[in-house]
Formats: sequence, C-alpha cells, structure tokens
Amino acid sequence: MTLDRFGRNINYLRISLTDRCNLRCVYCMPVNMTFRPRAELLQDAELYQLLPIFAKLLGFNKFRLTGGEPTLRENIVEIVRFIADLPDAPEVAMTTNGVLLGQLAAPLAAAGLRRVNISIDTLNPEKFQQITRWGKLDDVWRGMQAAADAGLRVKLNAVVVRGFNDQQDVVDLARLTYEFPWQVRFIEMMPFGEVSDFQQQNTVSEDELLGVIGQHLQPPDLLNQGELDGEARLYQLPGALGTLGFISSVTKPFCAGCNRARLTADGRLRLCLLREKELDLLTPLRRGASVDDLKALIEKSIWWKPWGHGLADQDVPMNRVMSEIGG
Ligand code: GTP
Ligand code: 5AD
Ligand code: SF4
Repeated sequence: MTLDRFGRNINYLRISLTDRCNLRCVYCMPVNMTFRPRAELLQDAELYQLLPIFAKLLGFNKFRLTGGEPTLRENIVEIVRFIADLPDAPEVAMTTNGVLLGQLAAPLAAAGLRRVNISIDTLNPEKFQQITRWGKLDDVWRGMQAAADAGLRVKLNAVVVRGFNDQQDVVDLARLTYEFPWQVRFIEMMPFGEVSDFQQQNTVSEDELLGVIGQHLQPPDLLNQGELDGEARLYQLPGALGTLGFISSVTKPFCAGCNRARLTADGRLRLCLLREKELDLLTPLRRGASVDDLKALIEKSIWWKPWGHGLADQDVPMNRVMSEIGG
C-alpha cells in the first residue's frame, strides 16, 4: 500500500501510451497539434521495467491505458497481456475513442483487458464528426458492439459542451440505458491547456443536466445514496438496464477520495491531473537507476501528491493538453 501525506491510498495508475490520436476533439487537442518524437516516449521495455514496481512493490492494483488514443500504440495487445499477467492479476482497463475496437476488442479481451470506457459525445453522426473534427460515428458504434460481444464491461464517456450537445444529445445518450446495461457518464468539461478559454465558457453542470434529462425522459433516481463509483455519482432511469454517471470535477470536486497517479507518455509521473508538478522517471530509467532507487523516487513523489485542484478559482494548468496526460 502506498499512502500520500493526506492518508489517501494511491493504487490506480493511469498510463498514457501515446500523445497521438486519430481524432481531434475540439475540447481536447488543437487541430495543429505537434506530437512528441517517438524516441522521447517510454518504450515497451521501459514500461516493462516500471510497471512491476507499481504492481509488486507499491501495491497498485488497477491500471488504465489511455492516450491520446491507446489503440494506436504498437503492441497494445502485448502491453495489456503483460499487465494482466503481473502478480495478483491487477485490473486492466482502457479509455478509448472506440474507432479501432471493431478489430481490437476481441484480441484485447483475450489478452486480459476487462473494461473499456468509450468516449462518445453525441449519437448524431454530423455532430460527432464536428466535435471530433473527422470521426465516423459508425466506427465507434461498431467498436462498442464488438467490446460488448467480447465480454468487456462498457462505460460511455460524454463530455458536455454548452450549446453543442447539452440538450437532445444528452437525452439520446441517457436513453441508451433503457436498452443496454452500460454506464453512460456525463463529464463536466475541465478547462485545460491551450483550449481552456473555450472550455471555461462552455462547461455544463451536473445539476443542469439532471434537469434536462428529467424534463425529457423521467427524473433519474440517485443510487448508492450519492456515494461515488470511482469519480462518478450514479443515477438510474426508472426501468433502465444501465446507469447514468456524472463526473462533476468542476462543480463537485472529488479530490478527497482520489486514489490516482498518472504516467505520461513521455515518462513523467503526474500526481494530479490538474497540477503541473511531475516527477521525471524517464531520465533515471535511461541512466540505469536501480529498482530500489526508482521505487524510492515514486514513493516520495506520491507522498507529496497535491491535495487537489482549484478549478473554481480559475487555477488552470497550462503546461500540457489533455491528450498528453490521458485525462
Ligand atoms: P473508471 O475506472 O471506470 O471509474 O474510469 P475513470 O473514470 O477513472 O476513467 P476515464 O478515463 O473514463 O475518465 C473519465 C473522466 O474522468 C475524464 O474526463 C477524466 O479526465 C476524468 N478524470 C479521471 N481521473 C480524474 C481525476 O483524478 N481528477 C479529475 N478532476 N478528473 C479525472
Ligand atoms: N474535460 C473533461 N474530460 C475531458 N476529456 C478530454 N478532454 C476533457 C476535458 N477538457 C475526456 C475524454 C475521455 C477522457 C479520458 O477524458 O472525452 O473520455
Ligand atoms: Fe482523441 Fe480522446 Fe482527445 Fe478526442 S478526447 S481528441 S478521442 S484523445
């Protein structure tokens, strides 16, 4: 077990496998994004040196692969298998745009992937293309079905943008839970990086969305007395198979229960999504640091994990865009 100085048990590592993406969601990446040279990213062999330290020596038991788009990483199936085969069989999950899951869901599931969170902000094909700049909704829909067919547990992530997908699109997404046993999650857009002005003006709160869903469908019932499932507050529409989740980082921060650390694609350990401070692990790794040294560096950095963010005070991190950290 690895605790921080506030007594939080940090056991969930989000691993960004690449800063590249095959889409360019307007709230995530500028269209003219420049990517890091591949040599600056953690190589497979380096990942395979670092990840056992987290799993075996530091007690991490949940690993989520993110990006950019993690399915673009060469050897993604082998990486999943490596993590799933670590001692005590940690949970391996992925957050993906779903475009490539049509082909990859079955091999990923066979390699030990258990869950996928798929980003889908609207069920309207034209709007989907606008928000992702060129994505095809059909590809994602095929990916979602392939994931469910492969036995993966599916959650959908919709980032809500004011004036774009905060009305009919939210209602259509919520309606999916009548038919599918999925968790459909609505995410308050967090202001971040180069596109933060756009985001700040256009974040929509959980309370507003509950109002819209209640008006067009039925008022959803609160589940678990409001206890969070991860960082989502869960609701269910009466008679639905699936659930609705609200990730309200901006209006109802959940930092007190945070159990996360992040490994960026270029090998930095970032202890809070919304704080700029990072620990460089790539350099010591390439200089041949011992396992004990790496473990000590990571432990110390976790101990000093920041309490949380101050988004409400306009404290917006600018050193990275979302796609470099993986959300
Ligand atoms: P589960 O394991 O299914 O609960 O997944 P997850 O919600 O941890 O991961 P996912 O990649 O699906 O993230 C959903 C949303 O939560 C994204 O918008 C992330 O940016 C956001 N998120 C994840 N972790 C944190 C965090 O520590 N702080 C904040 N503020 N937002 C986070
Ligand atoms: N605020 C909140 N969520 C975001 N994501 C990307 N950018 C933002 C943002 N500015 C979401 C993606 C994906 C997850 C990893 O983070 O839609 O589902
Ligand atoms: Fe790519 Fe995901 Fe960012 Fe969209 S949100 S551009 S799918 S990394």
